[in-house]
Amino acid sequence: TGMITLDSGFANTGSCKSAITFMDGERGILRYRGYPIEALAEHSSFREVAYLLINGELPNRKQITRFSVLLNDHSLVHEDMRSFFGSFPRASHPMGILSSMVNALKSFYPYLEGEEELNTTVARLISKVRTLAAMSYKIFRGHTVVYPRPDLSYCENFLNMMFDSPVRPYEIDPDVVQALSVFLILHADHEQNCSTSAVRLVGSGRVNLYAAISAGIAALWGPLHGGANQAVIEMLTNIVEKKIPLKDVLARAKDRNDPFRLMGFGHRVYKTYDPRTRIMKKMCDRLLTKLNIHDPLLEVAQALEEIAVKDSYFVDHNLYPNIDFYSGIVLRAIGIPTNMFTVMFAIGRLPGWIAQWKESMDDPEWRLNRPRQIYTGPTQREYVPLDER
Ligand code: CMC
Repeated sequence: TGMITLDSGFANTGSCKSAITFMDGERGILRYRGYPIEALAEHSSFREVAYLLINGELPNRKQITRFSVLLNDHSLVHEDMRSFFGSFPRASHPMGILSSMVNALKSFYPYLEGEEELNTTVARLISKVRTLAAMSYKIFRGHTVVYPRPDLSYCENFLNMMFDSPVRPYEIDPDVVQALSVFLILHADHEQNCSTSAVRLVGSGRVNLYAAISAGIAALWGPLHGGANQAVIEMLTNIVEKKIPLKDVLARAKDRNDPFRLMGFGHRVYKTYDPRTRIMKKMCDRLLTKLNIHDPLLEVAQALEEIAVKDSYFVDHNLYPNIDFYSGIVLRAIGIPTNMFTVMFAIGRLPGWIAQWKESMDDPEWRLNRPRQIYTGPTQREYVPLDER
C-alpha cells in the first residue's frame, strides 16, 4: 500500500472533470455554466437555472415552454404513495422521509433507457420532489393535500401546495415567490460538495437515478452540510431564549475542548466571504422589511456576524458566514417550518445533482468509484477458539 496517498476529507483530490460549476474559494466567485451567480439570482428563474445546469445552455422560449409542460405533466405523485406518509412515526424527520420517497419513485415509475425517457425521469424528479415535500407537510399536519396547478410557476405551485387551504385561500405574494426562487437558485449547484460527491459515487456503480438522488438527500441531511440551515436557527433561537451573551457564544466556538461550532460559519472551499451569503443577506433584509417582520433572530445573526468577522480566531481561520447563516431566516419569514429547511435545500440542489450525475454518465473516462485506504489494523493473527478467549 506504499503507493497510496492519503487526503483526509479529499480536500486536495479532484474526483472528476466537470463543466458545470466554477468556484474560486480565494476570491469568492461562483458561476453556473459560466454565468455569475449574482446575474442568475437577479434575472433568472429556478426553472431556467435547472435547465441551464442540466442541459448546459440557457433555454430559448420554445425550450423553456417545453420544459415547463414536461414539469407540469409530471407534477402529480402516484396516489398509492400517499399511504406511505401515514406509516411514518409523527416525529420523523422530513429528510428521512424524502430520501425514502425518492428511492420509492423507482418502483412507481420504472424508467427505461434512452434520451426521451431520461428527460421524463429528470422532469419527474424535479417536479415530484416539490410535490412530495408539500404533501408530507400537509399530511403530517392532518390537512387536506393540495394538488399542483398547471397555471402556477414552479415556486408559486410549491407555496400554494404548502399553504393553501379550503378555508383560507393562499394569496401569492410576488416578493415571497422571488425570495423562494432566489433561495433555490443559490442552492442549485456547488461542484463536488458532500452530497453531490455521494450522488456521483453511488451513481458510478450504475444504479438508477432515483437511488443516486436518494443517496444525495441522505448525505445532505448532516449538520455539517445541508442540515446546517436548521442548526443555525436552533442555535440562534437558543441564544435569544436563554439570553446567552454573544461573547460567550464566540468563546465556546473558539474553545478547542468544546465540540460547539458556530453554525453557518466556515466553508471547506471559501476562504473569503461566501458570494451566496451576500445575496441571501440582502434578500433577507428586503423580504423582512416588505413583510414587516421583526425577527429577533436576524438581529442576533447580524450582531454575531459583526463581532465574529472582527475576531482574530475567525479572521485567522478564514471563517465567514456561509449561505446557511441567513437562509433559515428567509425560510422562516416565508412560513416554512424549521424541520423542513434542509428539504428546501434538497429541492434547490436537485438540478445540480441531476446535472452532475448526467455528466458522469456521459463521461467516457468515468469509472466505478472505488477509493483505497491505508490499513492500520493488526497484521496476521492466529484464530483463537471461543472457549480459549
Ligand atoms: N466555528 C468554529 N470553528 C470553526 C468553524 C466554526 N463554524 N468551522 C471551522 N472551524 C475551525 C475548526 O475548529 C478548525 O480549527 P483548528 O484548525 O484550529 O483546529 C479549523 O477551523 C478548520 O476546520 P475544519 O473542520 O478542518 O474545516 P473544514 O473545511 O473541514 O470545515 C465546515 C468546513 C463547513 C464543515 C466547518 O466550517 C463547519 O463545521 N461549519 C459549521 C457548519 C456549517 O455551517 N456548515 C455549512 C457549510 S455551507 C453549506 C453546505 O455545504 O451545506
